Amino acid sequence: MLLANRVAIITGGARGIGKGIALRFAREGCTSVIADLLVAEANKTVADISKEGGKGLAIQCDVSDSKQVKHLADTVIEKYGKVDILVNNASFGPPSRSFADIPEDEWDKVIAVSLTGVFLCCQAVIPHMKAKGYGRIINISSGVAVSPAFPMAHYVSAKAGVLGMTRDLALELAPLKICVNAILPGPTRTELWDSVIPPDADKDAFFTEMGEKIVPMKRVGTPEDIASVALFLASDLSAFVTGERISVGGGLPLRYQR
Ligand SMILES: NC(=O)c1ccc[n+]([C@@H]2O[C@H](COP(=O)([O-])OP(=O)(O)OC[C@H]3O[C@@H](n4cnc5c(N)ncnc54)[C@H](O)[C@@H]3O)[C@@H](O)[C@H]2O)c1
Repeated sequence: MLLANRVAIITGGARGIGKGIALRFAREGCTSVIADLLVAEANKTVADISKEGGKGLAIQCDVSDSKQVKHLADTVIEKYGKVDILVNNASFGPPSRSFADIPEDEWDKVIAVSLTGVFLCCQAVIPHMKAKGYGRIINISSGVAVSPAFPMAHYVSAKAGVLGMTRDLALELAPLKICVNAILPGPTRTELWDSVIPPDADKDAFFTEMGEKIVPMKRVGTPEDIASVALFLASDLSAFVTGERISVGGGLPLRYQR
């Protein structure tokens, strides 16, 4: 097993990509701690992990609130004595709007969750990684951080900020053998898209059409596609890889990135 006896915090692990990562890690012997706003869904993920014979724990946490993040780290340390892996995955999709129409409070909320949340979780967990001399931090950014697709400057700015933070932190932590990397998912089938898909639309048809139209591999991603790459970055297989970003988008970045 690639993550035997490891302890991971996965923010936003109650559903979608985070849930896929939590399940995948648990199958590899890791205890998956799910930190999410949605405590009922987080408990459901833990129940799914237990059904497969794995170990998990749900903790309600808003990653944009430093007190709640501190409580998260303290609880994990009290219970397990360490945090080996942090997956900064929690985020939400704000409405697509032209730049001039983004209200300041919406800007602030997006930055607070999707950028400051990453900062707060890293700050809370890194001292414990340093104490044990081991750490893997995996930041879930987005393909739109480098190839914008819709007008949503707040989300794109937050996700691009995560890439900057990944590289800066990777350099600082490299002498301590703590690796910090980012994953840039392409369009992936999760509930994040619920705000974009009209309620009466056929979801299967929506995702099939999007995949065929824009993705070179002709399908959208699944949480499992992202989880496989997260597993590589969480494991000893990537011990000499830090400060990198990996696109998981079925070739989509080939169309846009220079
Ligand atoms: N789905 C895609 O197409 C796609 C593409 C690129 C990047 N991403 C990124 O992947 C990550 C996961 O997205 P997803 O598609 O699984 O979304 P999702 O909406 O299905 O899941 C996000 C999870 O984060 C949680 N969350 C939101 N705000 C939070 C907060 N303040 N504190 C704690 N938890 C919070 C939600 O409750 C939810 O469980 C996000 O960072 C997203 O930006 C997704």
